[in-house]
Amino acid sequence: MMNGGRNNGRMTPRERYFAEQRAAAEREARARDEAARQAAAREREAKLREQRRIYAEKERRRREAEKRRRQKRAQVAFRRFVTFAAFFAVFLAIAAIFVLISFMTTKVPSSDGTDEAAYTFSYVADGEETISYKSSPSDSVKNGSIYVNFSKLSDWLGFTLTGSGDERRFIAPSGEEVVLTVGSSVMKINENSYRLNGTPEYSDNGEVLLPLTFAEECISGINVSVDNEKHTVTLEKTGKIGFIFKESTTLTPVGGEADVTDPGSSDTDEVPTVEFKAELSEYELYMNPESADEYLLLVNREHKLNESYAPDDLVEVVNTRKDGRNTQKLRLYAAKALEALYVELFENGYDSVGPSGYPVSVTSAYRSYSYQNQLFNQYVDKEMKNNSSLSRADAEAIVMTYSQIPGSSEHQSGLCADMHNLSSAKRDFANEDVYEWLYENAWKFGFILRYPADKTDVTGISFEPWHYRYVGREHAYKMKALGMCLEEYVEYLGE
Ligand code: DAL
Ligand code: ZN
Repeated sequence: MMNGGRNNGRMTPRERYFAEQRAAAEREARARDEAARQAAAREREAKLREQRRIYAEKERRRREAEKRRRQKRAQVAFRRFVTFAAFFAVFLAIAAIFVLISFMTTKVPSSDGTDEAAYTFSYVADGEETISYKSSPSDSVKNGSIYVNFSKLSDWLGFTLTGSGDERRFIAPSGEEVVLTVGSSVMKINENSYRLNGTPEYSDNGEVLLPLTFAEECISGINVSVDNEKHTVTLEKTGKIGFIFKESTTLTPVGGEADVTDPGSSDTDEVPTVEFKAELSEYELYMNPESADEYLLLVNREHKLNESYAPDDLVEVVNTRKDGRNTQKLRLYAAKALEALYVELFENGYDSVGPSGYPVSVTSAYRSYSYQNQLFNQYVDKEMKNNSSLSRADAEAIVMTYSQIPGSSEHQSGLCADMHNLSSAKRDFANEDVYEWLYENAWKFGFILRYPADKTDVTGISFEPWHYRYVGREHAYKMKALGMCLEEYVEYLGE
């Protein structure tokens, strides 16, 4: 019996008992461990939940605090902005007041550089200074324009003064007269309405002051010169004194003596042979039309065109200004003759650009009745806007000195063209060299200057150095030779 209580590896009951006891104890211990482990896990889970809750709570508080901080920062920024804006607005208002005050107190230079200053006026006759006086700054310059004491000037020129109150009538020894109203820019010169670029005013001692431009443009027989550096104005008697729209000194006088540049000929019946630098034979037919009388149509306030009138032979004008405007149109003969004029003009070197940046070019030619109506009304509205004291009738009277009422404009005939090298049609064009060439040579191509400076009383239209009218060479020559405008010439032919 080598293995004692064992029997071939089998346990004895005692051993089995103890084994079972051990196994039970082990099971119990494992169950206890498991229970403890699970309890610990639950505890850990609970702790974790609590930590998460605490964390979430902290996070919520942090976010709220952050939000409050942001709101506060925004409020502070807004308050700062409002304060800054308020300060800035106050600053702007103060600056604006300063600018306004300085604007109101600064001397206003005019377009020709005229500052408010005392000007000395000298009246010269026969090369001798006869009168000299100094005007106060406020009498010398108003709104940037030089004013002349018209009471003194008219005395010197021998005008008779009648009228009372604000309306004054100055009668020249020639019988011509000017009627003006102090405070109104509209005046009558020999029954024609004229608008001053300013209003007549009273001087410090109650005499009448007028813009100097009136003396320059509307009194004949005097020469006006201004020295803006020395603040002097000299008015010199040079000829017969009267009231007219005076020609620019650079103009060749229109009218009176026959003045066609035709060596040795003053015969108005014989049209001289013309010569051109350019080869213009293909245009001869148009410049000198066979049916010349067809193009003598007189259009003015007494000779109106129907609203429905429109020529049926309008063609494009090749020398329309190339600034985006519609290509202008003229009747065929006028258009071709004008084309020839431009060929010769450029051949003579007048192709450089003028103050507008464009060479002399056509800015307006044929206009329909309705377009003329629109233009006329625009001008009337503009006049009334520029001078709120004008009635519509006053404004229309002014406009009628430079724009015809619809039906009366020869632009509707398709026989005339406005051409110049300025940005808009102004009398300054008469000071351009090209104007002189046009004035001297236009007849050769069949054109006349339609509204000359010395015919304003006949045409009713103030001087338009840019407006040329086609009548054909023969009539153009004769009108120039006779010194007649179209109204006079048509009457002359009818006699
Ligand atoms: N400017 C010219 C006179 C017209 O309106 O016909
Ligand atoms: Zn015109």
